[in-house]
Amino acid sequence: DVYTAGMFADRPPELPVRYERLREAALEAMSDEAAAYVAGGAGGEATMAANRRSFDDWRIVPRLLRDVTERDLHVDLLGRTFDVPFALAPLGVQTIVHEEGELATARAAGDLNVPMCLSSVASHRMEEVAEALGETPKWFQLYWSSERAIMESFVERAESAGFDAIVLTVDVPILGWRERDIERAYLPTLAGEGLANYLSDPAFREGLDGPPEEYPDAAVQHFIDVFGNPALDWDDLEDLCGMTDLPVVVKGLLHPADAAEAVARGVDAVAVSNHGGRQVDGSIGALEALPGIVERIEGRVPVTLDSGIRRGSDVIKALALGADAVMVGRPFACGLAIAGEAGVHEVLTNLRADLDVTLSNVGRPSVADLDRSLLVRTEEL
Ligand code: FNR
Repeated sequence: DVYTAGMFADRPPELPVRYERLREAALEAMSDEAAAYVAGGAGGEATMAANRRSFDDWRIVPRLLRDVTERDLHVDLLGRTFDVPFALAPLGVQTIVHEEGELATARAAGDLNVPMCLSSVASHRMEEVAEALGETPKWFQLYWSSERAIMESFVERAESAGFDAIVLTVDVPILGWRERDIERAYLPTLAGEGLANYLSDPAFREGLDGPPEEYPDAAVQHFIDVFGNPALDWDDLEDLCGMTDLPVVVKGLLHPADAAEAVARGVDAVAVSNHGGRQVDGSIGALEALPGIVERIEGRVPVTLDSGIRRGSDVIKALALGADAVMVGRPFACGLAIAGEAGVHEVLTNLRADLDVTLSNVGRPSVADLDRSLLVRTEEL
């Protein structure tokens, strides 16, 4: 369908299909500050480069003459069925790339039934986004506020709004050294973006003298005061697991020992990620960290991977190395920047189609059949 739409329909695909072109077009569609924020990483951006390069460390060895007429892309994860083995990663402040922000993203994801993880620093309230997603699996990404009442309130709101899991991001004890943003003195939250969940929160508002609408600067200042929590430790993680009935995913782990500790503390899934290279410059690529973590966890909990997923073959490599699912970040933000809801829709449709086509051509029509035997290490060739 994707091919024929391009060749025969009145309208060719609206967005570039190649990621490199998509990214270029998206960066042009954004303000200079937003483009730097989305495209940038920590320090000299060596981690971002490692994220991509690590996919080249593995090559796929297709198997042929297997019936691939029936394909099955679904995975079961944390009590829900995902139609596809990928979800939208939590990206905050989406109104900086398109005015409809997370609502546009959620409508596209909801229409295609692609699971979405919503950031704490979203530009729209979690309740609104949950509604736009309807029955589609939805996860809420938690930044643990230094004000405990706010953290607890976020968890309770996510439960009431119908989210299926809490994703605690732990790789931001302090925001990374992001040189592009520092040069521009730009942080979207300080410009008042991404505060919807905070401004609408009773526990957050308690710390303000009046309604945030009347005190925009005070509201931003209060956000700065309560947002981060560098004191967070393993006991807090354990605490969270006991606090909610929802499954808890811990996002941002790269060391096998940390993954083992997380499982011992009661998490329901581990999200291997280096935050798209935005936190530690020169860190291990996410895909490089995956096999060691998968080996240490021994299937006790599911594992997801993000940071560098661009194409169907990337999804296949991650799943073959033991991830149960992946999360995709910047590509959908590019679609959002260029064409809002329709742009996200097209990026997700293309990724699903690419995955479907590539699975057929490697002779493993069901994602459940992907395993390490499909891959060889490039250096061993
Ligand atoms: C992010 N990421 C992120 N992660 C998180 O836990 N909470 C957040 O609010 C954000 N916000 C955010 C904004 C932007 C603009 C980007 C690019 C990323 C990290 C995100 O969830 C994911 O880990 C990375 O995006 C994966 O890297 P790629 O595949 O997008 O390069």
